[in-house]
Amino acid sequence: MRSLIDILDFTVEEVNELIATANDIIDNPDKYCEKCKRKKLATLFFEPSTRTRLSFESAMIELGGSVIGFSAANNSSAAKGESVADTAKTISCYADIIAMRHPKEGAPLVAAQNATIPVINAGDGGHNHPTQTLTDLLTIHREKGGFENLTVGFCGDLKFGRTVHSLITALSRYSGLNVVLISPEELKLPSYIKKDVLKKNGIPYKQTTDLESVMPELDILYMTRVQRERFFNEEDYLRLKDSYILEPKKLNNAKKDLCIMHPLPRVNEISVAVDDDPRACYFKQVLYGKYIRMALILKLLEEAEK
Ligand code: CP
Repeated sequence: MRSLIDILDFTVEEVNELIATANDIIDNPDKYCEKCKRKKLATLFFEPSTRTRLSFESAMIELGGSVIGFSAANNSSAAKGESVADTAKTISCYADIIAMRHPKEGAPLVAAQNATIPVINAGDGGHNHPTQTLTDLLTIHREKGGFENLTVGFCGDLKFGRTVHSLITALSRYSGLNVVLISPEELKLPSYIKKDVLKKNGIPYKQTTDLESVMPELDILYMTRVQRERFFNEEDYLRLKDSYILEPKKLNNAKKDLCIMHPLPRVNEISVAVDDDPRACYFKQVLYGKYIRMALILKLLEEAEK
């Protein structure tokens, strides 16, 4: 049974096909409005979410299917001690496909190993968030026309930001990538990603604490929130939370066609005054998330029926 746990579960060709399908859905929504008639998506969210859960639900509804699920662990029998494996076996009796978010790294993989239907990782701890990555790839593709020869700056919490980990991994498969890592010392990208992804693929990268000094180089600026829920103490969070606040004046020396992205939710890291800048792409990114998830649901259900 085909699932999506890690972005590398899909080849570059498959990612390109998903992007092509999402673009076709954007252009021809009526063609897709009954594709999932009588199919059910189960959204199993053991951790809070606005965009991921509701975009999955909107995606399935727009495909003509329906949705069941829960939005917090304490609304499910996990609160009584039920395992992820048993939850996955149970939901396989009710639904055709699962989207799961869980605070523990690896929980969606355990679900996939026990379910008889496809499982989509909708975010596991500080590890991976492959459908946010597909969203980001569709956004980059639509804004930049492709993935080659881009200088991408990742700014903020690069240690705990699972969207950053997944996107760097995904972009590492395209040529001409340059990575600029902008973070406080304490929130640097984990060494294993530098070693296993950047160094292994010969991708040039540099690390800095100073966003403004690298701004003119960037084609894409990927801002991130400091992940309060992953900190061990509140004091460290409070000290680091406002390390970077993107304000209009900081964009003065940025490229005219810079693409500013953020997986959202934002806290303080992008001033609302930036929202009107034509380079701000983060709310378009939210919308693209629904279309790429429609494409993903279609792909996994089609493969399950083979
Ligand atoms: N980007 C993202 O995962 O947002 P939510 O936490 O609201 O789902």
